[in-house]
Amino acid sequence: MRTQESTIDHAVVGAVEGRVHRLCRQYADRLQFHGWHHVGFVRAKAVGFARHNGADLTVVEVAALVHDVNYLVLRNSPAAAGQSLRLEILAECGVPPHIARWIDEIVDEAEMATRGRDISLEAQALSDADTLFKALPVTPVVLAHRYLRENGLSLRELAHKIVGEQCDVHDEGYYFYNPEAAATYSRWATANLQLWRCIKEAVDDPTVVELLDAVAS
Ligand SMILES: [Fe+2]
Repeated sequence: MRTQESTIDHAVVGAVEGRVHRLCRQYADRLQFHGWHHVGFVRAKAVGFARHNGADLTVVEVAALVHDVNYLVLRNSPAAAGQSLRLEILAECGVPPHIARWIDEIVDEAEMATRGRDISLEAQALSDADTLFKALPVTPVVLAHRYLRENGLSLRELAHKIVGEQCDVHDEGYYFYNPEAAATYSRWATANLQLWRCIKEAVDDPTVVELLDAVAS
């Protein structure tokens, strides 16, 4: 299904957007990091990457809209934890069941912790948008503390998670699938991962731990 025509009717895309937007507003306190600001960014960028790589545009758009609903179900969870809610939203909004299952597979495929070099074009578009959000230089400055709060993690745990999940993918050369994204954003990604490697080292210093405890209390 390699067409730029609409696999999903635009009214259905709008219904999914409305449903996810309402959920994000309703549970804004629980979605400090993965709220509408994140979903909206990933959706806009994923559509751009899909336009570039020939992936199915509306399927990618809807996948982006529902990719992080797992954080509504369970803190600090994999995408798969949101499968039931994801399929429920898609069904309610009129996405045909076989397309809904395809979207759920794309979301799983695009997950940073498990994604491989060879994933579908739709998953590549979604992954690049989600990865770009992680690599933005503003993310550690204005959003990292929200990730900690949302998911109940310590700074040490988040540093280990980011370095553990992202450094190999980065070093093996498929951090971004889109070559233009790789050329444009690799410097940001490298700086971001270097920062998190440094944070991981810093939290091994007992005096830094004391400092963090003092700030937290
Ligand atoms: Fe995401």
